[in-house]
Amino acid sequence: MPAGGWKAPHNLRARPGVVAPVHRASSRTLGAALPFLAESGNPMAGAYIGPNLLSRSTFCFDPWEAYAAGVVRSHSMAIFGVKGSGKSVLAKALSTRLCRLGRKVAVPHDPNGEWTRVAAYVGGVTMRLGPGQAARINPLDPGPRRADVSGADWTQEVLQFQRTKVRAMVAILRNTTDLSEIEHTAIDLALEQVHRSNSTALVPMVWEALRNPESHIAEEIGAGGQMLAHTLRRVTVGDLADLMDRPSTVAFDANTPMLTVDTSGLLRASAETKALLRLTTTDWIERGTPAGPGQARLIVHEEAAVALLNEVAGGGNLVGRVSDEKTARHKRRSNCYLIHRINDFDALGDRGSALHAQALGLLADCDTRVNYAQHTGELERSSQVLGWNRTQTELVRKLRRGEGFWQIGPERVAKVRNDCTPGELAVFRTDGPGAAPQ
Ligand SMILES: Nc1ncnc2c1ncn2[C@@H]1O[C@H](COP(=O)(O)OP(=O)(O)O)[C@@H](O)[C@H]1O
Ligand SMILES: [Mg+2]
Repeated sequence: MPAGGWKAPHNLRARPGVVAPVHRASSRTLGAALPFLAESGNPMAGAYIGPNLLSRSTFCFDPWEAYAAGVVRSHSMAIFGVKGSGKSVLAKALSTRLCRLGRKVAVPHDPNGEWTRVAAYVGGVTMRLGPGQAARINPLDPGPRRADVSGADWTQEVLQFQRTKVRAMVAILRNTTDLSEIEHTAIDLALEQVHRSNSTALVPMVWEALRNPESHIAEEIGAGGQMLAHTLRRVTVGDLADLMDRPSTVAFDANTPMLTVDTSGLLRASAETKALLRLTTTDWIERGTPAGPGQARLIVHEEAAVALLNEVAGGGNLVGRVSDEKTARHKRRSNCYLIHRINDFDALGDRGSALHAQALGLLADCDTRVNYAQHTGELERSSQVLGWNRTQTELVRKLRRGEGFWQIGPERVAKVRNDCTPGELAVFRTDGPGAAPQ
């Protein structure tokens, strides 16, 4: 064959018919001339994630830096994508790299035990919870006594936390958040009775107070208390008892770079058990984290929709999450929710119901949304809820494994390939030889 290839039509050896004129300009001028291609020139600070495939520049992210720069209005983020699309690998890459920058990370519920190696990789710790494990967390554990509040205020704060906690537990056990006025009163009075004679409140004590109230409150607690006692019975003598009926045996170490809670031992446990444990560990981590500089912590909620929303249609956990988002910013927490699809939110309560609105509200609180590959059938609903235009929807349709479409606040978008080193992948991956157990 001749060096220039055979001379034939369409063999791509012909000279181009059009010669573009040479044009020189400064990058400043080009930035204005090509506004849809050039970035603002103000890259975001934070952990390296990979190349931005839209602009070919380097993409970094840190929720707190993005907030400080005014790019987002909340620290929290949501990562969507079908199973196997790369959500967990992204969460692990972001977490470990943020740890290297001094941020802290917690994973309150790791149903596959896939974060244990990640915690070890950054010098963090893993706690195992479940049948046969020694570690216990008391759901009513208020965490370490805060130095900045007086004795009386602290007692009030503990009572308030425990009230909310008992209500959330009841909501999970009953599959509904509806509590009657009498039941609200009964919980208050029962907790006060427990505090009169004990320094550490435990769920069985509350149960006992509801069944056998002191004479001066017996009338007020009345029938409402009896119904509540029936609900809480499962946490005290039923199948859940062993996990939550005693004082905590572990203290949360706020200085550890990464804490993960391996709940893989609960694989066959009931949905309520998983939901109650998730509620307990999340609160335990949050209450154990002192406020203040240097305490910025990323909380990764693995399989968020499955365990946090869907399994417990009553939404007990969701209510806790929504109220948590209100305080998270102040406490320098960033919640990172890993969710399969938007439809998981729709499955929670009827469209238009208060619960459904709360689910979407939680999403609205996540000002950073990352979409990994989605099923084609889900794209339309996602584009509605997440506000994509046609081009962006097409972009998500074509995403490959490990590639994500980022929406950061109202202004910024990026298509980012999450670059991992072979060493990182060996720690992060959940498939192939030597992978963490699924
Ligand atoms: N950025 C990436 N680079 C290389 N491989 C990846 C990347 N993201 C995901 N993978 C591969 O895909 C597999 C599934 O990813 P994973 O994040 O666990 O999926 P899921 O979305 O279900 O959490 C991983 O075990 C890994 O082998
Ligand atoms: Mg995963």
